[in-house]
Amino acid sequence: MSDGPQRFAGHQSSHVDSDAAIRLTDTDAVTARYSAVQKGYIRDPFTRPLLPRGAQFQPSRPPLINVGTYVRSEGIDSLVTQWLELSQQEGKKCQIVSLGAGSDSRFWRIATGPHRNTVSAYIELDFSENTTKKAMAINKSRELKGTLGDPSNVKIVGGGTTLYSPVYHLIPADLRIPPHESLSQAFQLIDSAEGPILSPNLPTLILFECVLAYMSPAASDGVIKWFVDYFATSPEGTVLGGIVYEMFGLNDSFGKVMLNNLKARNVDLPGVEPYPTVASLPNRFLQLGFERAYAMTLRDIRRSCIGEVELERRANVNF
Ligand SMILES: C[S@@+](CC[C@H](N)C(=O)[O-])C[C@H]1O[C@@H](n2cnc3c(N)ncnc32)[C@H](O)[C@@H]1O
Repeated sequence: MSDGPQRFAGHQSSHVDSDAAIRLTDTDAVTARYSAVQKGYIRDPFTRPLLPRGAQFQPSRPPLINVGTYVRSEGIDSLVTQWLELSQQEGKKCQIVSLGAGSDSRFWRIATGPHRNTVSAYIELDFSENTTKKAMAINKSRELKGTLGDPSNVKIVGGGTTLYSPVYHLIPADLRIPPHESLSQAFQLIDSAEGPILSPNLPTLILFECVLAYMSPAASDGVIKWFVDYFATSPEGTVLGGIVYEMFGLNDSFGKVMLNNLKARNVDLPGVEPYPTVASLPNRFLQLGFERAYAMTLRDIRRSCIGEVELERRANVNF
């Protein structure tokens, strides 16, 4: 059970919030992750405090879903770790921007791990309703808040929608709004003495984990291009990397069932249709100014990045 539907049922107006269903996909994501944590597929003490009220009582997901969550999580973690190691080898601090971050706990896992000193800024963006809930969850949790550093440097502003701390920043933004308004505003100066939250001079990784599908390709192209242009202005030639975890090719019978199920929940996936094949995903990044781009299917990641023994072990844990 999530607290979302109760909240929406309480709305005064008859206006149906068409974005509410999109925001609620975060509840699915974090609940699936918690299921994988509880069943021993993933070690992550930070997901529990980020769960919506009551979600801890939901039944665990079936083993196949937990394995999928594990492969997704390991795949992305391993790429993020490679990025952090590269930065460390070059003796540079780096920045990470997670778009549509929802209740993701990656910042806390990095901040308590071996690469904690490599990240100078970790910025999360999502709809203001989701950032407000997350800021409240962080503020209530000793584990989450304690990781952000000296409490006097943790500020919740913007009517509870925004949280700033020395490294971690949680900022509301609707990514469909033209980026020169949404992103430029999100990354504006906190304090002119400190410079912008997002430095144009540090290697930066942008993360899109299950978010582009909810946006029109024109809107998400605008977001990707904004980052390419922002870092192209740096005289030092800043490296920009990106990790995308996304659906593609939903025109088979399985995909059609999934699309219909989502439609019944008021969720459309305008970002999926133009990308029917695995090759079409990196192509868009190359067209938008990235110099190199590769894509792998979940099956590829399962096979090549996660050892058979590990998969076997995970598939047999705690049913
Ligand atoms: C499926 S959830 C994924 C959350 C997180 N990235 C993860 O993988 O656990 C999708 C998230 O993208 C956010 N999102 C979708 N469209 C967005 C938009 N136009 N602007 C900001 N956030 C958006 C949703 O609110 C939700 O939190």
